[in-house]
Amino acid sequence: MHLNDLFDVIFRWAHLIAGIMWVGNSMLFNWLDRNLEKVAGQGPLSQGKIFMVHSGAFYDVEKKLLGPGEMPKILHWFKWQNFATWATGISLFVIVYYLNGAGGLVDPSTHDVDRTVAVAMSISIIFVAWLIYDSLWKLVGDSNPRLAGIISIVLLFASIFGFSLFFSGKATYMQTGVVIGTLMTGNVWMCIVPSQHELVNATKEGRDQDPAFSIRAKQRSIHNNYLTFPLLFIMVSNHFGGATSHPLNWLILILVMIGGAGIRHFMNIRYLGNGRERAVAAWLFPAASAGAFAIASLMIVTRIDARSVDNIDEPVSFKRAQEIIATRCVPCHSTHPSDDVFTAPPAGLRLDSPRQIQVNAKAIRLRAVDQQNMPFNNKTGITRRERGELKKWIDDGARTD
Ligand code: HEC
Repeated sequence: MHLNDLFDVIFRWAHLIAGIMWVGNSMLFNWLDRNLEKVAGQGPLSQGKIFMVHSGAFYDVEKKLLGPGEMPKILHWFKWQNFATWATGISLFVIVYYLNGAGGLVDPSTHDVDRTVAVAMSISIIFVAWLIYDSLWKLVGDSNPRLAGIISIVLLFASIFGFSLFFSGKATYMQTGVVIGTLMTGNVWMCIVPSQHELVNATKEGRDQDPAFSIRAKQRSIHNNYLTFPLLFIMVSNHFGGATSHPLNWLILILVMIGGAGIRHFMNIRYLGNGRERAVAAWLFPAASAGAFAIASLMIVTRIDARSVDNIDEPVSFKRAQEIIATRCVPCHSTHPSDDVFTAPPAGLRLDSPRQIQVNAKAIRLRAVDQQNMPFNNKTGITRRERGELKKWIDDGARTD
């Protein structure tokens, strides 16, 4: 196994595990908050109780502030899951998109951006995005959160469009994901954790906590809450070539993000507190509609403006199809690739023999004709005519005789 592939596996696996722990925790705490019950006889510092059954016994949890001197010796914090998710995510981004000559970051067949420039841009965008977002919310967010919210959303969507002008389709999605993940991690470490420290210190000193900390922390954790579902979509977007390699990939991403945040919104408003829940029609239906909006946008936009190929009327022989595949695909998709970067057949796909070509005809049609994201970055320079010839050969039954 190539060293790069090995790191890819390690960091991807760790990223998934850490991400599940972080998002899982955060959803559980959101759920707890919304289900707290006011029970008679609780002290003035109590914010509610909740009773649960899990793993063989009952959990009796109370949310409360503490009086001075009541601080327990062992206090559990929840911040490393977030850090681990971010650190493994950034590492994975570097491994997949910056190393190996940054082949995945730019797609010369659509925008021919110098790779070093693209890497430099990608890195600086991550930092600049945090600076802009954080300053915006510090300067405008305190006094006018609505305005700050609108500006943030406009900037986010404009950035996605901007990324699509420089980066490859997949990298446009991942750059967005890395930016969002970094904002969320910044929120945790620069706002939410400091606010928790302030709470601990105030409690120890027996004074009220400075509300400025908690208001800001609350705002930022709401942002994180809404960004989770869109971010999870981006994490798996690599599997949706129809979306990432579409000429309107930026629009698809924006629409799916709106739908994803919508689902989260209706899940958020589901609980009325004290264990009471809104009627199913008031939250499940709109949440499902937001999901349907996301999926429908995905399907509709990927259908329009399908990439065209040359129309071929005369039949195409297998000999001709194999010739195209041998020059345009086999440099990578072979038991022994001749490509300088891919030393093993990518995705395990080999197109050396007639049989291998025939059984993969559907996949070839999808990637080389419909989505046109193969050959990878069109490294082997396939032409529109050759795509048309492959299409004709496959549509006529992909016969090898
Ligand atoms: C420069 C190397 C390169 C060339 C040339 C290339 N591919 Fe690929 N191919 C890849 C990589 C990398 C992947 C895995 C990433 C992905 O799926 O986008 C892949 C994946 C695929 C897959 C998906 C396989 C699966 O099971 O997930 C198909 C189908 C495919 N290529 C078809 C083709 C066809 C058809 C051609 C020629 C027209 C071609 N490729 C040329 C690098 C290449």
